[in-house]
Amino acid sequence: MLSSILLPIIASTLAAAHIVISYPGWRGNNLITNETFPYGMQWMYPCGGHPTTTNRTYWPTQGGAVAFQPGWFQGHQTAFLYINLGFGTDGPGGGPPNMSFPMVAPFQLLGPTKNPYPGTVCLPQVPLPVNTTVQAGDLATIQVVELAAHGASLFSCVDIEFAEPGDPRIPEVNETNCFNSTELGFAEIYTITTKAVGESANSTSGALSSFWRRNGPSLWSWAGYLPVIAGSAWLLQ
Ligand SMILES: *[C@@H]1O[C@H](CO)[C@@H](O)[C@H](O)[C@H]1NC(C)=O
Ligand SMILES: *[C@@H]1O[C@H](CO)[C@@H](O)[C@H](O)[C@H]1NC(C)=O
Ligand SMILES: *[C@@H]1O[C@H](CO)[C@@H](O)[C@H](O)[C@H]1NC(C)=O
Ligand SMILES: *[C@@H]1O[C@H](CO)[C@@H](O)[C@H](O)[C@H]1NC(C)=O
Ligand SMILES: *[C@@H]1O[C@H](CO)[C@@H](O)[C@H](O)[C@H]1NC(C)=O
Ligand SMILES: *[C@@H]1O[C@H](CO)[C@@H](O)[C@H](O)[C@H]1NC(C)=O
Ligand SMILES: *[C@@H]1O[C@H](CO)[C@@H](O)[C@H](O)[C@H]1NC(C)=O
Repeated sequence: MLSSILLPIIASTLAAAHIVISYPGWRGNNLITNETFPYGMQWMYPCGGHPTTTNRTYWPTQGGAVAFQPGWFQGHQTAFLYINLGFGTDGPGGGPPNMSFPMVAPFQLLGPTKNPYPGTVCLPQVPLPVNTTVQAGDLATIQVVELAAHGASLFSCVDIEFAEPGDPRIPEVNETNCFNSTELGFAEIYTITTKAVGESANSTSGALSSFWRRNGPSLWSWAGYLPVIAGSAWLLQ
């Protein structure tokens, strides 16, 4: 059993750079680790532990700015970022039925250090998801996902109501709330196909079978222990 003293230390070791949505706002502080969220609130799908809010912020019907501070908490120098939209209030807890509408292509964030760092990212014109249109007065939720280096994701959301561009209720976008900090970098994400769908896989399986012939069953027993070793090293790091 882990002692109650060890638990918070392990939780903070596992924490990756958490996100604060600085524009157009967020559901609320979810940089919290407590008994309800022993791994940290922000890991909870879909919105980092916060239920749908009623204090919605106004956002343009033709898309607008999204700004966030990605460097809260230590853990990871790089991360993949996703910005999605969920429509309406017909889903669980009066939120969207799903958050399955990407607004931008995912991109990689390059941080200056694996320690917590300051810095803001702002995308000044995040469009609506492809092939979607909205009316002023429609309700939606913007979700920012930060995919950490180990594959788990951090979630933050802001509930919005759409308004015509120029509506004075839309919070102003300016150089104090929409800028990119110089200490943060970005990279594009792309994939290289190594085996197309339907392509014969026999060159790979040939290589594998000769690999097994060479290394035999001893490799199997070694592989069996690997997750245990890797798991504890990860916890102790
Ligand atoms: C809504 O209210 C919560 C709780 O007071 C606050 O933390 C959050 O920032 C507010 N969100 C917006 C978009 O005003
Ligand atoms: C943990 O924090 C969340 C968010 O503030 C809160 O809703 C929850 O009640 C807290 N749990 C405990 C056990 O304090
Ligand atoms: C996601 O939600 C939209 C409504 O916003 C709905 O039309 C769509 O069918 C949902 N997709 C899935 C896979 O449930
Ligand atoms: C958008 O609509 C076009 C035309 O109907 C269609 O070809 C395309 O696949 C759609 N894109 C998405 C992401 O739904
Ligand atoms: C920028 O806009 C925000 C509202 O979104 C406002 O509070 C702030 O005063 C503005 N800053 C400047 C320099 O105009
Ligand atoms: C911040 O950088 C991103 C990625 O290069 C870019 O799309 C965006 O326009 C920049 N934001 C500002 C306010 O210049
Ligand atoms: C790979 O498999 C395909 C069909 O299964 C066969 O036609 C082809 O000759 C095989 N190639 C090699 C290098 O074995």
